Amino acid sequence: MKKDLVSILDLTKEEILDIFKLAKKVKKEVKAKKYRNSFNQMTLAMIFEKPSLRTRVSFETGFTQLGGHAIYLGPKDISLGLRESVPDIARNLDRMVDIIMARTFSHKSVEDLAKYSSVPVINGLSDKEHPCQVLADYLTIEEHKGKTSNLKFTFVGAGNNMSHSLMLISSMLGSDFYLACAKGYEPDDQYVQKSKEMAERNGSKVVITNDPVEAVKGADVVYTDVWASMGEESEKEIRAKAFKDYQVNMKLFKNAKPDAIFMHCLPAHRGEEVTDDVIDSKNSVVFDEAENRLHAQKAVMLTLLGVNK
Ligand code: CP
Ligand code: NVA
Repeated sequence: MKKDLVSILDLTKEEILDIFKLAKKVKKEVKAKKYRNSFNQMTLAMIFEKPSLRTRVSFETGFTQLGGHAIYLGPKDISLGLRESVPDIARNLDRMVDIIMARTFSHKSVEDLAKYSSVPVINGLSDKEHPCQVLADYLTIEEHKGKTSNLKFTFVGAGNNMSHSLMLISSMLGSDFYLACAKGYEPDDQYVQKSKEMAERNGSKVVITNDPVEAVKGADVVYTDVWASMGEESEKEIRAKAFKDYQVNMKLFKNAKPDAIFMHCLPAHRGEEVTDDVIDSKNSVVFDEAENRLHAQKAVMLTLLGVNK
């Protein structure tokens, strides 16, 4: 196991499956409180350059439930890279805390935190990846579909951080990954190439298309995300125009298998990338995904800190 979780590529397929196993155990044993002292006397530093509901609450609650203490460091507290350089922040924090979680604008900032810190660093979303979210997502898929491989996973939306991490994990686990986006909003080529290589080894495929109906046809999972991510707010209107035919509404969703599940990392912009009838339907598992952030991240932290597994 690597020291950090900056990219989903820091984990092997076996490690991902072990995290799911441990997450399910942790989830079951919350009431028995078996893990309640695992992080006794430990501190988690949480760096946020952007807003958050789920990431902050799930990390803070998760670390506290397992006996530790979490410190929130918001944008105005440490001004990553402005008040102090990223390497210096890493080399201060690792003298005081046991583990660091960071949500940054630039992916390089999380990479540098990991490089310069002697304690584990977890990516809580950067402009390129959101590994914790996709671990929770595939844990949710396993709970609903009974498997994580040989599925058709479809992402409808911009080639963003979510799409990159979902593409990587789908290819690692051996599920087909389809992405439908407006022209000019394709995911970064390096993620597509890397995913295609892994998919080929695992007997699955990666398909990038501009045709949402084709992508959703026969899907087991339909996933979407906001069209303009945090930091892209100035492009909101232009993206809304580009993506008007990519809304996951009932007409589009009906192209998927009848028992397909609908997923979204949240926050959702209802009426934009998804309609109420889809996100509120019986096929929607969006709040299971949110809850599973708690369990998946507990498993990640237990694993990285090497305690009580
Ligand atoms: N899905 C997710 O990361 O949510 P937040 O931005 O609220 O943390
Ligand atoms: N793509 C979104 C995900 C939010 C969890 C963003 O980066 O804002």
